Amino acid sequence: MSDQIQDLQQEHYQYVAEIGDWKRTHSCSQLTMADQGSEVCLMGWVQFRRDHGGLIFVDLRDREGLTQVVFSPDFAPEAHERAGILRLEYVVAVKGKVRPRPEGMTNPNLKTGEIEVVVSEWKLLNTSKTPPFAIEDRCDAGENLRLAWRYLDLRRPCMQKNLILRHRCVQSIRRFLDDEGFLEIETPFLTKSTPEGARDFLVPSRLNQGKFYALPQSPQLFKQLLMVSGFEKYFQVVRCFRDEDLRADRQPEFTQVDMELSFVREDDVMTLAENLVARLFRDVFGKEIATPFKRMTWDEAMRRFGVDKPDTRFGMELVELTDATRGSGFKLFAQAAMVKAIKVEGGESLSRKDIDAYTEFVRIYGAQGLAWIKIKSETEWQSPIAKFLSDKEKEAIRTRLDLKVGDLVFFQAGEPEMVNAALGNLRVHIAEKLDLIPKDAFNFLWVTEFPLFEYDKEERRYVACHHPFTSPMPGHMELMTSDPANAKARAYDMVLNGNEVGGGSIRIHSAETQRRMFEALGFTPERAESQFGFLLHALEFGAPPHGGLAFGLDRLVMLLSGSQSIRDVIAFPKTQKATCLMTDAPNEVASAQLRELGIRLRETPDKDKAKSQEGEAKPE
Ligand code: AMO
Repeated sequence: MSDQIQDLQQEHYQYVAEIGDWKRTHSCSQLTMADQGSEVCLMGWVQFRRDHGGLIFVDLRDREGLTQVVFSPDFAPEAHERAGILRLEYVVAVKGKVRPRPEGMTNPNLKTGEIEVVVSEWKLLNTSKTPPFAIEDRCDAGENLRLAWRYLDLRRPCMQKNLILRHRCVQSIRRFLDDEGFLEIETPFLTKSTPEGARDFLVPSRLNQGKFYALPQSPQLFKQLLMVSGFEKYFQVVRCFRDEDLRADRQPEFTQVDMELSFVREDDVMTLAENLVARLFRDVFGKEIATPFKRMTWDEAMRRFGVDKPDTRFGMELVELTDATRGSGFKLFAQAAMVKAIKVEGGESLSRKDIDAYTEFVRIYGAQGLAWIKIKSETEWQSPIAKFLSDKEKEAIRTRLDLKVGDLVFFQAGEPEMVNAALGNLRVHIAEKLDLIPKDAFNFLWVTEFPLFEYDKEERRYVACHHPFTSPMPGHMELMTSDPANAKARAYDMVLNGNEVGGGSIRIHSAETQRRMFEALGFTPERAESQFGFLLHALEFGAPPHGGLAFGLDRLVMLLSGSQSIRDVIAFPKTQKATCLMTDAPNEVASAQLRELGIRLRETPDKDKAKSQEGEAKPE
């Protein structure tokens, strides 16, 4: 900020007054021609100021909108004279009269665009430094600058709109669940570390030195215990903490709408969740959405879309060619465990550069390359691989993919996991690049019958795909130990436009089955007892059959608001590196604080920083 402006602000500060007995009569989006002639009092921020032929116009902003206020030397000379000090983001209270704007000065884009308030008296409630970026929707400041000044960023109407939408969603959900007989019950944040799933955030215990609480990754076990306690229908809008690598749709702390019900099957939970979403759309957008949602097994999702959260707003499905290219003249296809392809209709016009970029893209998923064919004409296939393919193979490719002149086909061959991931993600990437995704569609989908386990290559063992409390499908209990790769779970995810917005399952409610599950996950009985004894014991005391689901509230609101990142719907989010640029968390703490907790740091995390901050944690 220039010295000049800073000086001005300090000078203006002497004029700051108390609200006193002034009371706001309206918000800044309320007044219309119907209020013509009324005496009103508005309070808000100076969004914009211009001096015009002796008049001073100010756009006054509050969370609801904008109203034009006018300081006129004829109407109130003293008020007009003092208005010369007004600057952007100053906070003011004005009293005045509502009058129509002069001919040709109306603004049809503004709710209050037909009127203005001509000011009789006003008070300066506070001054403001010049903000580091413009407080308006069209703001080109980088996200880091906006995060460092988050409270100013949140003044922008688009951010306010997001948080208001979030509030409306939560209220609608609360009303719905209350109407359905759910009880909102809180569960602890300081809890036991049960490292199955993401990494825990740990909290050292001062009173029990050397011991740690974990912040909950979700209230999973507590909500199950509430079912054992007989509450039957529980919900909570609850913060969850996971120390995982962050992306646009992941935060280290995020909010779930968490639910659990007793005496239910998959259908009951899924219908309830659909009704919740339908009510949300009705309450918040006044829109009806069709229920029940489409359902697809995990096997089908992987086969057709290559991913477990398919975006069904567009086609370009994966087509299997493994059998047709077995023993092919093209070596890569000949022996591959899986060969699949996707067709880009009319993609023949894509350049070599585009194809190279897509080839780079699939490398993220472990692909070595990306084979392609352009259908130039009925007889000409332009491709680095076409010459190796027999007529029979070509015919199979042509018919299975329903190829037309002008199409482009991408192939992937190798292990199924890689092939599906590479093509499934490429499908979405291409659709985004080529603008093939309808903008206003909300495609909800259930993905069901997930695998019970997935193989963790690092740990060299099976881990639970959802969580270890998920019930196997009927008849799949034996597979838990005999053929874990093929055991399926009574788990379901709600997917919206290719995003997992919720997930849940029917739980194991028999202690015996839960013990077998821990065994299948490689736990010794002793370890199962020490980590999960409280659950195993609870299941022995008349646990009812139960199941539930948790929505990712941030993701849901992100999609409903059309935001690109969940950071845009969280008031104070963290960066991709899990830091808060506004408060500077996480930060070093004083060595005395660490000593109290019985903690000694092995090395200084950032020597320079530690040195510059007196009294902060140093290695001892
Ligand atoms: P799950 O782990 O699938 O299930 O989480 C439920 C939903 O929470 C959202 N989500 C996240 N959102 C933002 N940032 C994150 N880091 C993050 N991780 C997950 C997703 C996801 O669908 N206890 C079970 C639920 C149950 O079985 O009832 C659970 O936590 O939208």
